[in-house]
Amino acid sequence: MAQIIGGVATTHVPSIGKAIAEQKQNDPYWKPFFRGFDYVHYWLAREKPDVAVVFSNDHGLNFFLDKMPTFAVGAASEYRNQDEGWGIPVSRSIAGDPALSWHIINNLVADEFDITTCQEMLVDHAVTIPMTLMWPGEKWTIPIVPISINTVQHPLPSLKRCLNLGRSVGRAISSYPQDLRVMIVGTGGLSHQLDGKRAGFINKTFDLMCMDKIVDSPEELAKISTHDLIREAGAQGLEFILWLAMRGCLNGKVKRLHQNYHIPISNTAAGTLLLENAA
Ligand SMILES: [Fe+2]
Repeated sequence: MAQIIGGVATTHVPSIGKAIAEQKQNDPYWKPFFRGFDYVHYWLAREKPDVAVVFSNDHGLNFFLDKMPTFAVGAASEYRNQDEGWGIPVSRSIAGDPALSWHIINNLVADEFDITTCQEMLVDHAVTIPMTLMWPGEKWTIPIVPISINTVQHPLPSLKRCLNLGRSVGRAISSYPQDLRVMIVGTGGLSHQLDGKRAGFINKTFDLMCMDKIVDSPEELAKISTHDLIREAGAQGLEFILWLAMRGCLNGKVKRLHQNYHIPISNTAAGTLLLENAA
């Protein structure tokens, strides 16, 4: 049977891609952020996942305001990246695992989640940057199942709904008959706002509370409304719902193996978290 080994959550700011392209990982500005992945690299080498289920949000490369699925699951054999206009290099393609995708899709629909199934799907920096952070030099060898959650256009899915979506995906993976070691990834956040009067807004106290509670009491976080999350974390800080979806896939009890929090990356509070499934 497939087994969920743990989850990684990380910020996905486009400027990280630029810093990687310009090899600035050891610059004083960037070093505290990139060093936060040393332990993740050690864990990946030790745990050797076979596949990653990646929760992210699309920023207009694949879906736009005219068609915005609340939840979309990729079921392709390959996911391409394209020029998004951030000045970052186009990433190489990432392989898919259509059989696992369809198993998750079937289970989600049986669990009454009305998802969009995508047999073609582009992936943007919200997928490619975390993959490159985890496997520098684009040296990933494992396929992904990408799951996109709308964080762009109202109405937005609630935190509770995203936690429950993750739980449904977790049950689906645990019932998959193939012996696979599955890791879960949630990308985005933490607090940031890109425009308007609050541009540059960061809330360290709130971020650290979220990084703390997501370990042992995600249900408490799930009680926060989307409006309160935006008030506390900024309009784009709403991306924390992707971390909650990741957490939902894991067991009730998890071990926090590693955490890094660094302000700022661009105008974002950068968080990295590694959770391992407890028995
Ligand atoms: Fe984003």
